[in-house]
Amino acid sequence: MELFAGDDIAKGYAAARPAVHRVVVGRAFAQLGAECGRHRILDVGCGAGASTRAAAPWAQAIVGLDSEIQMIRNARTVGGGPGYIVGAAEAIPLGTDTVDVLTTAGALDFVDLARFRSEVARVLAPRGVVVVYDFATGRRSADAPGLERAYNEFARRWPRPTDGRHAVDTSVLAAAGFSVGSGDQMIVSIAMNANAYVAYLMTETNVAAAVQRGEPAARVRQWCVERFSPLLTEPRVIEFDAWYAIVTPTG
Ligand SMILES: C[S@@+](CC[C@H](N)C(=O)[O-])C[C@H]1O[C@@H](n2cnc3c(N)ncnc32)[C@H](O)[C@@H]1O
Repeated sequence: MELFAGDDIAKGYAAARPAVHRVVVGRAFAQLGAECGRHRILDVGCGAGASTRAAAPWAQAIVGLDSEIQMIRNARTVGGGPGYIVGAAEAIPLGTDTVDVLTTAGALDFVDLARFRSEVARVLAPRGVVVVYDFATGRRSADAPGLERAYNEFARRWPRPTDGRHAVDTSVLAAAGFSVGSGDQMIVSIAMNANAYVAYLMTETNVAAAVQRGEPAARVRQWCVERFSPLLTEPRVIEFDAWYAIVTPTG
């Protein structure tokens, strides 16, 4: 997916994404009653591996898969245990019945769900499951009440691109041929200062799309620094709206 193909976004994914994943994955694995260190896990659309590393405590073996080579290179540079391979969610380069838990964070919006479903049905072992999860851009803080307004200005200036992307929720998954089991929604709270928040916003697809249209990244960053620094002079607790669903392919 072109938006994720550049080295800047891959480096940002390696260094600046908030650690929402481990909270959500922890809840999902607890719900599954999964035992630590016991499962063959595949993380689809792994980016630079934040979501893969979050699932590693439950893995006997774990692989992250992403279509973008720069994401995989950065994931390998961070290291931390998982293996990483380049490949598509619609043509998973693994054998039949080889995966106990397939995790996927924020990636299915860009994936052909019908082809993905066929591949899931092939690679999942008997009793295997898929943990789908995502979180919205953090934009609220009880300690920094002006944050949401500033974020809305950011999103108006540099809108989130919609090309090649579709919403994913439990009804979309059901319509795509997945049986939806348990799941939950939650707010994950993470303290961030202005540097961390601006570095994180610079990883959002809003910025990647603006840069592809010719906007200098340095100009976006400068605007963000000026707008968010007065609001986040010290670490403030930012709220991320997150959800997960445990699903299996039907049939
Ligand atoms: C929003 S990022 C999430 C990355 C990572 N899961 C995380 O949470 O940090 C979506 C990722 O999905 C990958 N992706 C998009 N379409 C894909 C496809 N068809 N097959 C494999 N990966 C894909 C992108 O390259 C990108 O790295």
